[in-house]
Amino acid sequence: MLIDGGVRLNGEVRISGAKNAAVAIIPAVLLVEGKCRIENIPDIKDVDSIIDILIYLGADVQKISNDIMEIDASPVKSFSADCDMVRSMRASYYLLGALLGRFGSAHVRMPGGCNFGERPIDQHIKGFESLGAKVIKTNDIVMANSDGLTASSIYLDVVSVGATINIMLAASRAKGITTIENAAKEPHVVDVANFLNAMGAHVIGAGTDSIRIIGTDKMSGGTYSIIPDQIEAGTFMVAAAATGGDVTVLNVIPKHMESLSAKLIEAGAEVFEMDDAIRVVGGESIKNVNVKTMPYPGFPTDLQPQIVTLLCMANGTSRVTEGVWASRFQYIDELRRMGADIVLAGNSAIITGVPRLSGAKVNATDLRAGAGLVIAGLMGEGTTHIYNLQHIDRGYENIEAKLISLGAKIKRVAYNRTAAVNA
Ligand code: EPU
Repeated sequence: MLIDGGVRLNGEVRISGAKNAAVAIIPAVLLVEGKCRIENIPDIKDVDSIIDILIYLGADVQKISNDIMEIDASPVKSFSADCDMVRSMRASYYLLGALLGRFGSAHVRMPGGCNFGERPIDQHIKGFESLGAKVIKTNDIVMANSDGLTASSIYLDVVSVGATINIMLAASRAKGITTIENAAKEPHVVDVANFLNAMGAHVIGAGTDSIRIIGTDKMSGGTYSIIPDQIEAGTFMVAAAATGGDVTVLNVIPKHMESLSAKLIEAGAEVFEMDDAIRVVGGESIKNVNVKTMPYPGFPTDLQPQIVTLLCMANGTSRVTEGVWASRFQYIDELRRMGADIVLAGNSAIITGVPRLSGAKVNATDLRAGAGLVIAGLMGEGTTHIYNLQHIDRGYENIEAKLISLGAKIKRVAYNRTAAVNA
C-alpha cells in the first residue's frame, strides 16, 4: 500500500459490522438447528476463513448480499474441525464452544491469528471442564469430550473475551443454569449474547461481570444484525485527529467509543456525539496524553497502536501502557523508521513527540499495528510503503476505498516480495 501523507481527512465514512462479534456469531450458528439470517457482516478475510470452515463442516451458507448471509448448520454431522484452515485465525477457538454445545464433543486444531506473545486458552478449558468435558490439549489440537454438558459456576481468573464467549456458547445447550463470574464486558460479548437469545438461548447479564446462562435443548433459526465495529470506528476517529481533519463516522454506537473520545479530547481534538454517528475535528496541534489499555469499558488494546501513532507528533511526552497483552509493541521499530521517538519501558511506550514523521518502507506486523502504520502514513511527509497487508485485510473492510473517500492519497499495488523482505 502506498500512502502520500499530509492530507487532512474530510467527509463521512460508514463503519462495517464488528469483526470480533462476527467471528463468534458465525460459528455460534452451529448451536442452532434452523436457518440463521445474519446481517451487517463485515467483508473481511477473517469472516471468509470462518465461513470456509463452516462449509467444510457441512453447513449450508448462502450469501444474500455483500453483508447478509443465511447459514443453516443443521446438516453438520461432525464435531471435528481438524483442518488447516482453522490455523489461519485466532477466533477459530469459538468452534470449541459451539461444537461442544451442539454435540457434547469438539476436536479443533489450535488456532493462529495475530502474534503478540503467549495467547493461552486455559480459561476456556477451565470453563469446558467445569461443564463436564474432559479436555486434552496438545500443541496441535484441543479435544474436548463429554456425554453431555451440565451447568456449572465458573469464575474466570483473568477477564477474557474469548473464554467468556466460548463458555456462553457451550453453556447455552448445557443442562441447568451456568454462571460466569468476572466475565468480559466488551460490546461484542453482549452482541453474541443477543444473537444467542434471538436464536432461542437464555443468556442474562451480558455486559456486566456476572452472566447467567439457562441451558436449552433446542435453538432454532432467526434474523440478527451485528453491531458496528468499535475498533474500525476508533481507527477512523484517530485518523481524523491525526491529520487535523474533520470526519464523521456513521453507523457507530457512541457509548462504545467513550474511552477513546475522552482521550482524543484530552489530545486537543473536538468530538461531537450524535445518535449513531460521531464527528471528530482535529486540533491545530496534538497534546501529549497518557493512556493505559484495559478490558472494556477501559481503553481498548486494539486501539493501542493507533493512539501511539497519533502521539508520535504530540507536543511533549506521552506514556502508553499495555494492560492486556504481554507483548504488543512489535510495530514500534516500524514507527521509528518513520522518525518516531519511542522508548519501551517494560509494558509502556514512552513517546516523545516529533515535529514530523517521514514516509518509509514499513511492515504491518499484525492487524492493529497495520492500522497504526496506515495512520502514520497519512500523517507523514512523503510516501509510506506498507507491506504485509494480509494482516490488515483480516479485519478492515475496504480500508483504502474508505480512506480515499475522505481524501486520502492511498493505493494498493502488486505485492513485491523482495521489497517487503527488505523493508
Ligand atoms: N488470557 C489468559 N487465559 C485465557 C485467555 C486469555 O490468560 O484462557 C489472557 C490473555 O493472555 C490476555 C488477556 O487474558 O492477556 C485477554 O485475552 P482475551 O481472551 O480477552 O483475548 P482474546 O479473546 O483472545 C479478543 C480479541 C482481540 C482483543 C482481545 C482483548 C477476538 C477474536 N479477538 O482476543 O482482538 O485484543 O480480545 O480485547 O475477539 C484484534 O481484533 O486485533 C484482536 C487481537
